[in-house]
Amino acid sequence: MSNKRVLSGIQPTGNLHLGNYLGAIKNFVAMQNEFQCFFMLADLHALTIKTQPKILNESILNTAASFLAAGIDIKKNIIFCQSKVSAHTELSWILNCIARVGWLSRMTQFKEKAGSNKEKASVGLYTYPILMSADILIYKATHVPVGDDQKQHLELCRDIAMKFNSDYNNDYFVIPEPIIPKYASRVMSLRDGRKKMSKSEESDLSRINLTDSKDQIVQKIKKAKTDNDPISENIFSENSTRYEAQNLIKIYSNLKSESLDTVLNDFNGKTFSDFKKNLSELLVEKIQPISKKIKQYRSEDKELINVINTGSEKANHTAEKTILDIKKIVGLL
Ligand code: ADP
Ligand code: TRP
Repeated sequence: MSNKRVLSGIQPTGNLHLGNYLGAIKNFVAMQNEFQCFFMLADLHALTIKTQPKILNESILNTAASFLAAGIDIKKNIIFCQSKVSAHTELSWILNCIARVGWLSRMTQFKEKAGSNKEKASVGLYTYPILMSADILIYKATHVPVGDDQKQHLELCRDIAMKFNSDYNNDYFVIPEPIIPKYASRVMSLRDGRKKMSKSEESDLSRINLTDSKDQIVQKIKKAKTDNDPISENIFSENSTRYEAQNLIKIYSNLKSESLDTVLNDFNGKTFSDFKKNLSELLVEKIQPISKKIKQYRSEDKELINVINTGSEKANHTAEKTILDIKKIVGLL
């Protein structure tokens, strides 16, 4: 086993969707044999936006089931719950005192999520990238697989780690590298090709959930917005505004593990109604086995909780050592 270490997390805030799968989970699965991996249910992050206890509880179990269903192997890697490892929040406070207000105020995700009424957003939503930095640094992760939307948070994490090292004149923290997928790093909404596919988007037609049935997938792709022009290379030309077309082609290319050029070549001149049939079939082929397994795992919640508890104990073991070192470095008793 190499000393490369991966940490990544997903907020349990609803059903996971195709964006989470292509942007994050598919990558987790691809990395699990090469790296030592910590895959986290970011349940404390989920509290930054108002949620109901029962719904949060269900989402935690659904997300854990989705990790397993997508192929994460717990014999080799760790699935754990952020709230079960208290060193994350301890380190988060120390990093709060390292990060600068100006750094946080540049975070675009806060601006997007807080919307027009920033005064009413939770303080947690504002400081969330610091907790995220603690999640990564507490395990001295070398690599962090995430979707493109998390790139800025990763840069902040690197800045915090470097400032800590320089303030305390050491090289304790490893500076983590983001790993962002080349294609479909940002899967867009099926209704609006300029908006990212998201759990929080009101219309369910905007996303493919990992738990969707075959019929739902087919219907959603049928209704997905496109334009009237046939498929051609100009979809990706510099001034192209064919955002929805770009999105569907990128999804297909990622799922099929084929380059954009190959896909464009294969479908050159065809209409989107032809292409959509192929895309639906491919989605059903890839997503159905996952949704079946999610149901199976959810039918044995006791087992699932056992997996989370065992993983969290292992994570605690590593995180405890780091927090003790850090307390010593900063001068706490
Ligand atoms: P959401 O935005 O739906 O609430 P999360 O914020 O929990 O999703 O994201 C979990 C992981 O999935 C992160 O690595 C994130 O970058 C990735 N991800 C989320 N949405 C997308 C998307 N539309 N395209 C690509 N990756 C995504
Ligand atoms: N903030 C991430 C998201 O919304 C989830 C997350 C929390 C995470 N902690 C992390 C991702 C640490 C990578 C590393 O998608």
